[in-house]
Amino acid sequence: MDKSVHVRVPASTANLGPGFDCLGIALNLYNDIYMELSGDGLIIDVIGEGVFNIERNEENLIYKAAKKVFDRLNINVDGLRITTVNRIPMGSGLGSSASAIIGGMVAANILCGKPLRQDEILDMASMMEGHADNVAPALNGGFNVATFDGKKAYYIKKDLKDDLKFIAFYPNRELKTSKARGILPPMIEYKNGVFNVGRASLLTAAFFTENYDMLKFASQDMLHQVYRKEFIPEMYYVIEAALKGGAYAAFLSGAGPTMMAIVNDEKVEDVMESVKSVYDERNLPFQVYNLKCDNVGACIV
Ligand code: HSE
Repeated sequence: MDKSVHVRVPASTANLGPGFDCLGIALNLYNDIYMELSGDGLIIDVIGEGVFNIERNEENLIYKAAKKVFDRLNINVDGLRITTVNRIPMGSGLGSSASAIIGGMVAANILCGKPLRQDEILDMASMMEGHADNVAPALNGGFNVATFDGKKAYYIKKDLKDDLKFIAFYPNRELKTSKARGILPPMIEYKNGVFNVGRASLLTAAFFTENYDMLKFASQDMLHQVYRKEFIPEMYYVIEAALKGGAYAAFLSGAGPTMMAIVNDEKVEDVMESVKSVYDERNLPFQVYNLKCDNVGACIV
């Protein structure tokens, strides 16, 4: 057994508009997780995002994920030291909890000699998160179609090229996924289901065939964004401004509040400029991340 490991896990954007709980893309913004079998008890250090509110005890998400692996393998760990260097803002819709879950599981699996396969880790991670749209890209990299039946995750992955940029507008405020899911209705209209099936299918085909001009139409959604607008009132103005600036598509990233625009390299400045005015007019502070797809996924550094 190795005594220590350093794992890097990418951020991710989920849903991509219509692909609620099943579509996601890994992004080149990373959390680093150092895990070491040493001493007695649990020691957790946090650097960067979440430094003031991440638990340093057994409630810590990285630890909880690692423990699932140790328990499954019947390995008793006396002492564990976890240090995490976080760059993904928490509660932002950029997959920070998926990165913690995947990071904890991948690191623990390596410390145990890698007995679990990638698909077994994905099943366990999907179980913890409840859906696979962030954990699949965090683990695999790339664009993922990933759906979870409550036990097993089924996925197909496609690498995306570097000239496709993902501009994330993070409005410096946290939105808990549980709150953003809590506002969704228990039932939807049949026509809205049909609306989303068509868009999500077309969007998947567009990525697989690199037919990005389809993304504007294919990124429309009727299942979650319209309800979540209550927490992100700027949502549709950002989408409109991003499209006006020349983005291929714009949507709520995961459960929000980050807004995401998919942009060709040449349009990055125009889209940033156009969207900036929406936040500025509302006096909303925000940060911009100019990202691209990470095709590697969680890896040992
Ligand atoms: N598909 C999830 C949601 C992503 O929209 O709630 C956040 O975990």
